[in-house]
Order: sequence, then C-alpha cells, then structure tokens
Amino acid sequence: MQIFIDTADIYEIKRYAYIIDGVTTNPTLLAKLGKNTSTEEVIQQISSIISGPISVEVISEDCDGMVAEAKQLAALSPHIVIKVPMTEEGLKATIVLKKVNIRTNVTLVFSANQALLAAKAGATYVSIFIGRIDDQGTEGMQVVRDTMAILNNYSMETAVIAASIRSPMHVLNSAKAGCHIATIPPNIISLMMRHSLTDGGLEIFLNDAKK
Ligand code: E4P
Repeated sequence: MQIFIDTADIYEIKRYAYIIDGVTTNPTLLAKLGKNTSTEEVIQQISSIISGPISVEVISEDCDGMVAEAKQLAALSPHIVIKVPMTEEGLKATIVLKKVNIRTNVTLVFSANQALLAAKAGATYVSIFIGRIDDQGTEGMQVVRDTMAILNNYSMETAVIAASIRSPMHVLNSAKAGCHIATIPPNIISLMMRHSLTDGGLEIFLNDAKK
C-alpha cells in the first residue's frame, strides 16, 4: 500500500519524506498555514521535497471554473493532482480533465456508489473519508471494502485512497482490505512506528551491549 501524508505542513512533509509516496492537501489544511503563505508557494515547496503526487483542491463549484483552476494549478508542477469534489459538476470536470491528461482525485466520497461514479468518470484517485463516515455512526471501512470489490469486479483503474484517517487501526484495516493508498496525518504516522515492546526491548539490548 502506498502512504501519502495528509498535511500541508512543510516541516512534517520534510520529516517523513523518506517514507511517503505522496501528499494530500485540502483548503482546511492550507488555511492552517495562515494568510501569508500562498497555495502556489506551498506547492513549489512540496514539489522540491517529494517527487510523488501532490493533491490540491479546486474551490470553484461549476465544471468550467474547476477546469480553469485545475489547468492553472497543474501548470505549477508536474506532480499536481487536482482534487475535485464529488458533485455532478465535479464528475463533469473529472471527465474533461482526463481528456487533457490532468490527474484527478475525487474527494469527499462517502459511499461506494459515489466511488463507482467517480471511477466511471475516469478519476485517477477516489478519496473515501473513513473517519467522517464513522462520525455519522456507520462504518467507514465498509465503504472502502465495497468500493474495492466493485473496482476489482470491473477491473477499473481508479486507485482508492483511504482518507480522513483517525487511528492506526484505520490504516491497518485499509491495508487488509487491499486499499491502494492511505493518506495519513503526521501524528498517526508517528503512532504507527511506535510499540512499547520495541522501546523496552531496545533499552534492554542497549544496556546488555554495554556489559
Ligand atoms: C483527504 O485527502 C482529506 O484531506 C482528509 O483526509 C480529510 O480528513 P479529515 O476528516 O480529518 O478532515
């Protein structure tokens, strides 16, 4: 499974650059950087750190606006993938962008039927927001499992991204479901690395090595 980092924080992207395959941002993550940092600036910085895909979201709500924005963003770096919302206009924009070879990540996906439509539209990636589905009292992982089954049934090429990851268990279950990618916040990447038995075992080995 590929691992993307779900942040626009340059410090965190640099910190985990050795293990990540790509980056996903969204308007909320970019807003956290403050008004003095432009999206263009952040894209340039991220592009200088990693060579994998960098998802950046359009904010227009109509197809033409999304396509125009996408073309501007894609011109900034060959690594750019355009995040398009899972709306009717977003699906139309996905179809247009595929024709001009701009990669898309259909975002804000909460059901397997939405994912199916995004794949039919030719999305490069589809992002299923597991944590936010769990928040509604239904199982986000089931949407990932259903989507994987549908895409496999019809050999569709869209890659599934497990997004809105809130715990290492979300990553583990996504990997068990065969999900192609998990986009993971930095604090969860850090948690995935740790185990108290690793820390305790290492301490014993280091002490024994001095004997
Ligand atoms: C995905 O690409 C989104 O940026 C992200 O996973 C949203 O997650 P949240 O529910 O933590 O905002």
